[in-house]
Amino acid sequence: MKILFATNNAHKLKEVQAVLGPTFELVTPHDCGVDEEIPEEQPTLEGNASQKAHYLHARTGLDCFADDTGLEVEALGGAPGVHSARYATDGHDFAANNRLLLRNLEGQTNRRARFRTVISLLLGGEEHLFEGVVQGRIIDHEQGSEGFGYDPLFIPDGYDRTFAQMTTEQKNAVSHRARAVRKLADYLHSIEK
Ligand code: IMP
Repeated sequence: MKILFATNNAHKLKEVQAVLGPTFELVTPHDCGVDEEIPEEQPTLEGNASQKAHYLHARTGLDCFADDTGLEVEALGGAPGVHSARYATDGHDFAANNRLLLRNLEGQTNRRARFRTVISLLLGGEEHLFEGVVQGRIIDHEQGSEGFGYDPLFIPDGYDRTFAQMTTEQKNAVSHRARAVRKLADYLHSIEK
């Protein structure tokens, strides 16, 4: 089964395809002629995932899903949260975001944080939401070069390595996005029967 996923981020595609397995073939907005940035202007992860899925459906007429993720840091009152992509700058500058996060946590002993992903699936005109969360902590310097975004600063509970020191398979065993995607896959399998 082919399914349209609202991202052109190669890292995300790889992670999500690995979780979904060969039964589902991911198609990108670019594959469907949608090359503009998909709007995400809502104040919540749920709102943004939903806005992206509805936008893509309106542009293509296809069933599709979109995700939105935030890093929620306890000592920062849940920031950067829905603003994770544009924390330090207007663009998706991962290095600048990580520098700002470390600066804002300087001297802070509470390093608790979690990643939260919300997926909006639009199927036959109906919307379904799925959530995935992983708890962990923010360390005080970057470690590792795999993955993307805040991965070099985040160690999930039960591990002593950052997401950026893990393979895609290892990250997918516990990650927020993988957990949400497994719920999506379970749902898609359940309605196929
Ligand atoms: P998006 O909504 O999935 O595009 O995520 C928003 C921002 O959160 C990204 O620009 C990244 O900075 C960060 N982010 C999302 N997922 C991950 C992840 O798996 N690891 C690290 N950072 C992530």
